[in-house]
Amino acid sequence: MTFAQMFTSSVGKKLVMGLTGLFLITFLIIHAGVNACIFADLPIFDANDNGDMFNRAAHFMGSTVLIRIMEVGLFAGFILHIIQGYMLTLQNQRARGVGYAKPMGNSGSKWYSRSMGLLGTLILLFLILHLAHFWVPARFTHAGLEEKVVRGVEMHDMFGLMKVTFSELWVVIAYLLGVFSLFWHLMHGFQSAFRTAGISNNKFLQLLATAGVWYSVIICLLFAAMPVAIYLKWVE
Ligand code: HEM
Repeated sequence: MTFAQMFTSSVGKKLVMGLTGLFLITFLIIHAGVNACIFADLPIFDANDNGDMFNRAAHFMGSTVLIRIMEVGLFAGFILHIIQGYMLTLQNQRARGVGYAKPMGNSGSKWYSRSMGLLGTLILLFLILHLAHFWVPARFTHAGLEEKVVRGVEMHDMFGLMKVTFSELWVVIAYLLGVFSLFWHLMHGFQSAFRTAGISNNKFLQLLATAGVWYSVIICLLFAAMPVAIYLKWVE
């Protein structure tokens, strides 16, 4: 396959979707892991942490050159995934033409695997709101962002920004809807990405299906717990 065919042929497009999908799956593990440091403030761990562990982790991510370079790759991955996703959705709709005479319902495929374009669009809307909340202030405007000294190091108080952001109920609800869409997107996307990477053995496929469900549940529960825990002041 030539480089151009990666972006024009349907096999190439699926390959790009799979590879960028695998990359984004890895990103979500790191992102959920770093953010989960906010739970260090739960009384069962250290009620006096006050977001310090998360602030230190976020500071490390934001001030390490290699990670900042990888951030460029991350955005390129997101953009490629989104563009190719829309191209594939359009192509599938055209190929299907007038649709089946009798809708197959869930007997042909699951509703969420047929709705990847719609779910992806909801995630994109969430992402725009989300980047405006955190990434734009952290990297550019510093709006609403205070400085804090933790263990002698001055850093952005990202935890403080989270507390202000998730003090509004509509924001918490918007995040829960975003994470709900992500959950169903991953329920199909996880398996699909690994299949595109060439795994076809039956035993592995079964294992993959189970891993996909566990991955989607754990990652999305963690993300959903963050706005809720802050809104309800379980961590503060
Ligand atoms: C729902 C709980 C979530 C919380 C509390 C949260 C929090 C944050 C914070 C604080 C940042 C800024 C990090 C920094 O620049 O120092 C950030 C960045 C980012 N988040 Fe999230 N996030 C959540 C979910 C998600 C989800 C589900 C996605 C993807 C679908 C996502 C994608 C991103 C991206 C692409 C960035 C910018 C790149 C980066 O700084 O790593 N986030 N998030």
